Amino acid sequence: MRVLGIETSCDETGVAVYDTDHGLLAHVLFSQIELHAEYGGVVPELASRDHVRKTIPLIEQVLERAGLKKTDIEGIAYTSGPGLQGALMVGAAIGQSLAMALNIPAVGVHHMEGHLLAPMLEANKPEFPFVALLVSGGHTQLVAVQELGRYELLGQSIDDAAGEAFDKTAKMMSLPYPGGPALAKLADQGKPGRFVFPRPMTDRPGLDFSFSGLKTAALNAYQQSDKAEQTKADIACAFQQAVVDTLIIKCTRALQQTGLKRLVIAGGVSANYALRQTLDQLAQQKGWQVYYPSLPFCTDNGAMIAYAGAMRLLQSKNINLEIMVKPRWPLTDLVLSGS
Ligand SMILES: Nc1ncnc2c1ncn2[C@@H]1O[C@H](COP(=O)(O)OP(=O)(O)OP(=O)(O)O)[C@@H](O)[C@H]1O
Ligand SMILES: [Mg+2]
Repeated sequence: MRVLGIETSCDETGVAVYDTDHGLLAHVLFSQIELHAEYGGVVPELASRDHVRKTIPLIEQVLERAGLKKTDIEGIAYTSGPGLQGALMVGAAIGQSLAMALNIPAVGVHHMEGHLLAPMLEANKPEFPFVALLVSGGHTQLVAVQELGRYELLGQSIDDAAGEAFDKTAKMMSLPYPGGPALAKLADQGKPGRFVFPRPMTDRPGLDFSFSGLKTAALNAYQQSDKAEQTKADIACAFQQAVVDTLIIKCTRALQQTGLKRLVIAGGVSANYALRQTLDQLAQQKGWQVYYPSLPFCTDNGAMIAYAGAMRLLQSKNINLEIMVKPRWPLTDLVLSGS
């Protein structure tokens, strides 16, 4: 089954075609970074308007790259939540209208299920069950994944998401937008050990996270410092190390608690090199298998939506013509289509 995936939940327009027999056929992405950079964060109305401009040309482009006509598409998947309401509506309206015109099924996909399943696009993909650490701009969650659609939330951030903490810490040090990757790059130049920040909520049982205090610790250190370039790099290094350690401590606990040995890391922060390197070393010692998406599929993209939608459409081919989005939508509310 060839499925067109459309992602418009935030500030990236991503479109892809996934074939359940032949894998990913093509994907294209337009990032709105330049549009939002002068505001230092995503402006929802500007995001929606740009998705309106970009989605249809990108669909035409992805079909051309895949060597397909519109009529070769057998199903459409679009992100229906969580995300920005107006931005989601663009993908939902275009996806449903195209499906109606082509008389093919359409399915609304949960954005975080898309992230969670992104490692399935790789040649070396995880088998179920596994523990997933979803670390993105809006979420930090540990999820026990039994099978497609059976997700148990083990823990989550009680305040900022890990990516959000990266972005806010970068902003207060006046790093370029988007902050997360810029802070990670600066951290490479930092001297480990000059600053040490807390590993929040690791001194007590449980799998929840909190990153807001860590962000404040970095802010205080910065404000009291000489603000020199090397100092900024040293603070970035200490901040990144604290986030990485905290995530790894909680992943270790989640694997111990569930008895599982497979770990999937997905979402934008899974692109972080220090996180990947530290986890790979630990996994080797502990005998775990760790799976990540390739870098273009860590942050938002259409391929993960095409894949998740294809899996859902294989389970249920009901044609649902409703154009509905859910800006707030817990992952654990998802059910297996067959049940
Ligand atoms: N190398 C990196 N190191 C740390 N953080 C990174 C890196 N690359 C990207 N990020 C962070 O990842 C986030 C973007 O990821 P993603 O696109 O998955 O999030 P989102 O779609 O905004 O949020 P959500 O998926 O929760 O709705 C940003 O917060 C960004 O700073
Ligand atoms: Mg995302």
